[in-house]
Amino acid sequence: MSIIEAQGLHKAFDDGTVAVDRVDFEVAEGEVFGFLGRNGAGKTTTVRILTTLTRATSGQARVLGLDVVKHRSEVRDRIGLSLQQAALDPLMTGREHLQLIASLRRMRPARRTERMEELLTGFGLTEVADRLVATYTVGMRRRLDATLALLHGPQLLFLDEPTTGLDPQSRRALWSFVRTYRQSGGTVFLTTQYLDEADELCDRIAILDKGAVAVIDTPQDLKKGIGGKVLTLPATPEAREPAASVVGETACRFTDGVLQIDLPAGDDVLPSLLKRLHDSGIPLTGVTVTDPTIEEVFIRLTGEGLERRTQSDGSVAAAALARTVGTGRGGV
Ligand SMILES: Nc1ncnc2c1ncn2[C@@H]1O[C@H](COP(=O)(O)OP(=O)(O)OP(=O)(O)O)[C@@H](O)[C@H]1O
Ligand SMILES: [Mg+2]
Repeated sequence: MSIIEAQGLHKAFDDGTVAVDRVDFEVAEGEVFGFLGRNGAGKTTTVRILTTLTRATSGQARVLGLDVVKHRSEVRDRIGLSLQQAALDPLMTGREHLQLIASLRRMRPARRTERMEELLTGFGLTEVADRLVATYTVGMRRRLDATLALLHGPQLLFLDEPTTGLDPQSRRALWSFVRTYRQSGGTVFLTTQYLDEADELCDRIAILDKGAVAVIDTPQDLKKGIGGKVLTLPATPEAREPAASVVGETACRFTDGVLQIDLPAGDDVLPSLLKRLHDSGIPLTGVTVTDPTIEEVFIRLTGEGLERRTQSDGSVAAAALARTVGTGRGGV
């Protein structure tokens, strides 16, 4: 069953910016669906439409079988949302945030207390629960925001760039949480700029380019679809031109001190290619040959790589919380 259906979803802002350009996709129940794109690709706008925070200019979206415009409050009751810009009040404590959301969600007092303790423990926030959010690290804020999204036990979770700004350890902890949530029956719609994250975590990935979906597939099939392996060698920018004359303009790229060449399928091409590169004066020290990554898929589809953001410090995130899913309704 599709838990999210988007048909011809289109969002143009008053200033003429087209943030989402006639997008179609479906998300099946129980999958982790990755929405991948560089800054400004339209990820957050899509999440905002699906979670009823903004209206599409045209097109339709159904979430849990409900139209997001006609059944706004039912959709809100049944989903969890952790936005890229968490709306936390620095002058409230973590626990006060949870209490506020529990009241807004009309949770029964007994269930509320049990659930809050479960989440605070699971996300490693017990010790800081009574501190003002102003004193929290980036990682703690992210984790608190996740607990708020999960408090009422939603069966569908939207995570907008959940790991941006987290250190590697915190990122992995969040991945582990997402996996556990999925194993317990939850569905996740996750936006990310990290290609490794999409590859690791997602059952299927949509690559978004300037508001439009360039492709949707499993990470495995995306990589398979681009065919042969990739040859990488340390080089100077000047090496690109002779390499291009050997392999063709579109099959080679220079980035960050390395030259990358897309190899045609088949094992027999490598020796003759290496000889031709050598003959054209390119030093071949440090050559590696690897399977294509999602990054290469992304580059081939969109013409360039993803802008990487610097990761700032955060602290240990999200212990897995399997019992998050299942109640599925507000007012529990
Ligand atoms: N309220 C608004 N008014 C006008 N343009 C907007 C508005 N909100 C977003 N945009 C524009 O819409 C486009 C898509 O923005 P969006 O925030 O959805 O991208 P994103 O993929 O989430 O980017 P990021 O990775 O930086 O979070 C951008 O060009 C952005 O500047
Ligand atoms: Mg965004």
